[in-house]
Amino acid sequence: MLALEKEGILIPSLCRSGECSMCRVKIVSGKVFQPAGVPVRKSDRKYGYVHSCVSYPLEDLEIVI
Ligand code: FES
Repeated sequence: MLALEKEGILIPSLCRSGECSMCRVKIVSGKVFQPAGVPVRKSDRKYGYVHSCVSYPLEDLEIVI
């Protein structure tokens, strides 16, 4: 999320700690690091969604906001 905000792209957010799902984005290509213990729904994981507030890009990403 910070990388997006630095580029002027604002994602709706509430908790900024991985709890509320408000900041979900879909990863189309590329990888992110998510610290252990980040609560992500099984369906989100299955379909490639992450909580952008607790995801850190490991490479260039293509995402759907
Ligand atoms: S802002 Fe709540 S999960 Fe990201």
